[in-house]
Amino acid sequence: MIDLRDIADEDIERLIHWRREPEVDRWMYGLPPADMAQHLSWWSAFRADPDRGGWIITRGGKPIGLITLQGLASPHRRAQLGWFIGDPDARGRGLGRAAQALGLDRAFREYDLVKIWSQVLADNDTALKAQAAAGFRREGYMRRHCFKAERFHDVVLLGILREEWAAVRAAVLKDLSGSHLIAA
Ligand SMILES: CC(C)(COP(=O)(O)OP(=O)(O)OC[C@H]1O[C@@H](n2cnc3c(N)ncnc32)[C@H](O)[C@@H]1OP(=O)(O)O)[C@@H](O)C(=O)NCCC(=O)NCCS
Repeated sequence: MIDLRDIADEDIERLIHWRREPEVDRWMYGLPPADMAQHLSWWSAFRADPDRGGWIITRGGKPIGLITLQGLASPHRRAQLGWFIGDPDARGRGLGRAAQALGLDRAFREYDLVKIWSQVLADNDTALKAQAAAGFRREGYMRRHCFKAERFHDVVLLGILREEWAAVRAAVLKDLSGSHLIAA
């Protein structure tokens, strides 16, 4: 079963390991931390920043990935969602999709947000399909917007409004619990 828990100091090492994992790094805008000192500097800023938050994704209690939210302190009441499954064995089984649904649900319940949005590299089919399955709609397309791995990439902008999640929430969660991916 997939669940979310709070991020804790014990996650410092696994987060640098996951972020440097090639299949995760491939789809991120920025470069991974070069060393632990750089990672710790990101960690301190992340933990102290009221604008940012998120959860560790767990499977049967074991940490497998991360969901981040950015924009929590913004007057616009929208947050940007980022997510990855850091454990390679856990990808491609529907677990990311399950974690994302739990993350959306918690984000809309725990924060006074009107919208959650994300930006995804245009060739990241897995993420785009998973986000569409949760009810994200395409809001924009930015050409040659990200320079990564020696080339420019197009980027898709996606968003889901509070009421759009409310409309699909029960069906999405029921489907995931029916597949035994999340608790009923
Ligand atoms: C994007 C990411 C979080 C998605 O997580 P995931 O677990 O790999 O993806 P899903 O949950 O959508 O599952 C992937 C596949 O498993 C399939 N699957 C297998 N068993 C399934 C089940 N029981 N229920 C639903 N889907 C299942 C899905 O159909 C999907 O296949 P498809 O893409 O051909 O339709 C993950 O691939 C990842 O971390 N990628 C690298 C980082 C990244 O891209 N982050 C997002 C951009 S910021």
